[in-house]
Amino acid sequence: MVSPEYFSVEYAINPHMQDGEGGLQTVDPEKARAQWDALRRVYESLGYPVRVLPGQEGLPDMVFAANQSFPFPREGGGDGVLLSRMRHEQRAAEVRAFEDWFRTRGTFVVPRPDEAPYCEGCGDLLWIPGRRVVLGGHGFRTDRLALEEVAAATGAPVLALRLVDERFYHLDTCLTPLDRSRALWVPKAFDDAGAALLRRAFERLIEVPEDEAADALACNAHCPDGRCVIIDVAAERTRRTLEEEGLRVFPVQTSEFLKSGGSVFCMKQMVF
Ligand code: ARG
Repeated sequence: MVSPEYFSVEYAINPHMQDGEGGLQTVDPEKARAQWDALRRVYESLGYPVRVLPGQEGLPDMVFAANQSFPFPREGGGDGVLLSRMRHEQRAAEVRAFEDWFRTRGTFVVPRPDEAPYCEGCGDLLWIPGRRVVLGGHGFRTDRLALEEVAAATGAPVLALRLVDERFYHLDTCLTPLDRSRALWVPKAFDDAGAALLRRAFERLIEVPEDEAADALACNAHCPDGRCVIIDVAAERTRRTLEEEGLRVFPVQTSEFLKSGGSVFCMKQMVF
């Protein structure tokens, strides 16, 4: 995770970052810190040790640790990472600290040309749990061409999913893989071809109520193990649905981060 001391909304690169009047959202820094601490504790209580990279002044979105990289297990063993090229200049400098962290750790860093296609890491790239298949969102942030690099680097097939609703600008805002056969989704975020690919990929696709998807980023929930789901507390109907599916739900407050267009899934990076 990236510590939140410099998190704020200083520009608008997605619709969530503006208030009703078209101004910028206002973040309460103390509330943000408390929400971030609570999320960290949930991960630790579930048995995931949390490493923290310090946030940096002037990089208010760096707290969204899912976006700067795409870590993956390499076919021959060991781990690799595809570093992002952020679509917006305001976020470009966030990647460096992740690169340094992975290099120090000895992770294989996939070589990318300077003018590589835009790619926003696990914002747009999701593994189907337990299967060597990557789901790749493109259109708003990640370029479709980057998905070919992902396929080459991982040796896994990548299903290209075009995103068409700007409220759901990253794949992790409209699709939550739960286990190898189930996922939450927002159908209207995808074009017909993408929706058809997803219907073939998952036995059970559970539609999230549109208001909870847009206002509480219900699909930015995270299911790390096929059993537990961490999700914003405001996604009430989605929480009930998950419980009916036999999953254990851990509600957390992410209201301050929702003002920037992010919630649980964006606030961490899982490494192999
Ligand atoms: N303000 C950030 C942006 O628009 C939010 C990123 C949220 N991350 C995510 N994986 N959806 O880039």
